[in-house]
Amino acid sequence: MRRACIRGTGFYVPDQIVTNDDLAERMDTSDEWIRQRSGIERRRYAPDDVGCAELAYRASLRTLEDAGLEPNAVDCIILATLSPDYYFPGSACILGQKLGLPGVPAIDIRAQCSGFLYSLSTADNFVRGGQFQCILVVGSEKHSMALEFADRGRDVTVLFGDGAGAVILGPTEENRGVLSTHLHADGSLADALWMECPGSAHPRWITREMLDEGRIYPKMEGRLVFKNALEKLPQVIMEALAENRMTLDEIDLFIFHQANLRIIEYVAKQMGIPAEKVYNNIQEYGNTTAASIPIALHEAIKKGLLREGQHVLMASFGAGFTWASAIIRW
Ligand code: COA
Repeated sequence: MRRACIRGTGFYVPDQIVTNDDLAERMDTSDEWIRQRSGIERRRYAPDDVGCAELAYRASLRTLEDAGLEPNAVDCIILATLSPDYYFPGSACILGQKLGLPGVPAIDIRAQCSGFLYSLSTADNFVRGGQFQCILVVGSEKHSMALEFADRGRDVTVLFGDGAGAVILGPTEENRGVLSTHLHADGSLADALWMECPGSAHPRWITREMLDEGRIYPKMEGRLVFKNALEKLPQVIMEALAENRMTLDEIDLFIFHQANLRIIEYVAKQMGIPAEKVYNNIQEYGNTTAASIPIALHEAIKKGLLREGQHVLMASFGAGFTWASAIIRW
C-alpha cells in the first residue's frame, strides 16, 4: 500500500527575540498577564526586509538538508500562510523562484492555524495518488509587521510571532507514514478572529476610515475562540483515532497548534492525555500560526521524542474557523 511519509523536517525563526517585557514598553501589558493567559515568554520578529517567502525559503533549505535532498528534487510546493508577501501572486510562487524551481507547481493554502494540516492533507493525497513524489510543505508567517503595537491591539499582539517550518513528503511502500488527515471549517464565526481590511468585500480596497478605525489589524474575540477550540479539538482528535481504530494510549506524541498553552493544557487534561506526551514550544516562539506544528514537530524529533514505529497525532484550531488533525506512524 502506497503511503506518504515525511522524509525531512526543518524550521527557521528570525534572530530577534522579543520578550514580554519588551512589549510592555510599547503597550499596557505585563509579563505576568501574558504568561498566565497564554504561556508565552518570548517570540521572534523578522527584520523589515524579510517576508513570508524568505522565511519559508530559509526553513526549506534546512528541511532539504535534513532530507539529504537538493532543491531540484522537489516536484511540488505547498505553502500555508495568512501573511503572504503580496495580495497576489501567492508566496509559494515566490518561494519556488527563490529555490530555483521554474515550472514546479506552487500552491498557497489559506487555512490560518490549520494551514499546515490542510497542506499536509493535500500533499498526502497528491503523493498517494501518484501525481507528485517529493512535495515541499511549508508553513510560514510574518505577523510582526501587521500587529497593532498599542493598547487597542494588545490582546492579539502579545500572542503572535514570526517563523517558518517545513516537511518533505514522499511515497513509501512501508507500513508507516500519514495514516489519515481530517479537515473541517465553519465560516459562520469568521469575524471572531480576522483581519477585515483591506479586502475585496469592501467598496474600496483601503480607506482612511479603515486605517483610523484600526480595521487593518487582526481582531479577536478571545473568549469565543477559546470556547470553540475547547470543543473542536477533542472532536477532531477522536475522529482521527476512530478512523484508525486507535485509542489515546496508542499515541506516543501529541503536537497541537501552538495557539495558547492554556487551551492545550485544558484539552489534554479533559481528555486524559498525560502532559509528558504533549510537546509545546509556545513559550519560545508565541503563536506562529501555520508554522507552529512543523516547528514543534522538528524540535520534538531532534529531541528524540518520536522514534520509528511510534505514532504522532497533530491537531489544530484557528481562524475561519478551521480545525484539523492527522496521525502519522513514524
Ligand atoms: N495585557 C494586559 N491586559 C490585557 C491584555 C494584554 N495583552 N489583553 C487584554 N487585556 C485585558 C482586557 O482588556 C480585559 O480587561 P478588563 O477586564 O478591564 O476589560 C482583561 O484583560 C481580560 O480580558 P479577556 O479578553 O476577558 O481575557 P481572557 O481571560 O479571555 O484572556 C486571551 C484573553 C486572548 C488570552 C484568551 O481569551 C485566549 O487565549 N483566547 C484564545 C486566543 C487564541 O488562542 N487565539 C489564537 C487562536 S489560533
